[in-house]
Amino acid sequence: MTLAELDAQQAQSLSEVAAAADAAALEQVRIRYLGRNGLLPAIVKQMKDVPAAERPEFGKGTNAWRAALEAALADRLASVGTVKKEESAFDCTLPGRWSAPGAKHPVSRVIEESAAIFARLGFTVADGPDIENRFNNFTALNTPAHHPSMDASDTFWLTDDLLLRTQTSPVQIRMMTQYRPPVRIITPGRTYRRDTTDATHSANFHQIEGLYVDTKPVSLADLKSTLAYFAKEMMGSKAGVRFRPHFFPFTEPSVEVDFSCHVCAGKGCRVCKNSGWIEIAGAGMVDPRVFNFVGYDPEQVFGYAFGFGVERIAMIKYGIPDIRWLYENDTRFLSQLA
Ligand code: DAH
Repeated sequence: MTLAELDAQQAQSLSEVAAAADAAALEQVRIRYLGRNGLLPAIVKQMKDVPAAERPEFGKGTNAWRAALEAALADRLASVGTVKKEESAFDCTLPGRWSAPGAKHPVSRVIEESAAIFARLGFTVADGPDIENRFNNFTALNTPAHHPSMDASDTFWLTDDLLLRTQTSPVQIRMMTQYRPPVRIITPGRTYRRDTTDATHSANFHQIEGLYVDTKPVSLADLKSTLAYFAKEMMGSKAGVRFRPHFFPFTEPSVEVDFSCHVCAGKGCRVCKNSGWIEIAGAGMVDPRVFNFVGYDPEQVFGYAFGFGVERIAMIKYGIPDIRWLYENDTRFLSQLA
């Protein structure tokens, strides 16, 4: 190859750089001339065939070519990098991709919040199975053998002995048969009843059970102050509690627990149906007969228990009018609560 031919090749390569429309085309040019099997390394390799007199000039020429080509490639790359808007496939006026933010389900939220509130009072979270036996769900909870709640029309029986638990109360029995007092637990979980679904009923819902037993006296006042604290933490500082006498087989005395309406603070509004109070939980002092069933000495052990519906709190807290909304997984509803 002569010096003139070298100059011609250089000019050719530079015009190819100038003509390259984008980064990919530039890369092709770079590979063709500077790549491992490119033209320039091939020429350098043939330098020994160049007459000795011309060799220094030839060497300088190839070096200059390499430098010029590299500079031109870098220059051109910088300018094709900033493509003019109308030439670009990117349309910055298109709406962005919508990435739906996840939202925690209201039932999970109430469960997690309750666990955090009761943890501050020293309660830990206990768990029990959805499939229970007759003893834990009814007998040890002092439910009379022919109580209507045991009826096949109310309870999902799986066998003569096994059933889908109708309440989280059997976890009380599981805890007390396994541990000596003091026991201070809450237990959130699913419960099942043969209820026809409507705006306020579901055959599968959630409860949170609470149990505190100790060998030192525990009173109804302890129960009330615990639930009063829970009411304020869960529903806001306006919420208070009141007890109404009631009956549950496993507590004596038993009460129904109302929260004062967190919206009107007891004055009466739509949320509390003008009564100022909202029924929230069942509770009471653990019946001595339950202590007998689990092998505790009723003379030595004292305790209270309570249970409330998670969906009910979620509906009141978030103003959800229909329990079925909680199970339909309609993200238009769920994401509003985010
Ligand atoms: N298990 C009851 C129910 O499902 C609720 C309940 C009432 C739980 C009183 C308790 C309690 O622990 O003491 O209706």
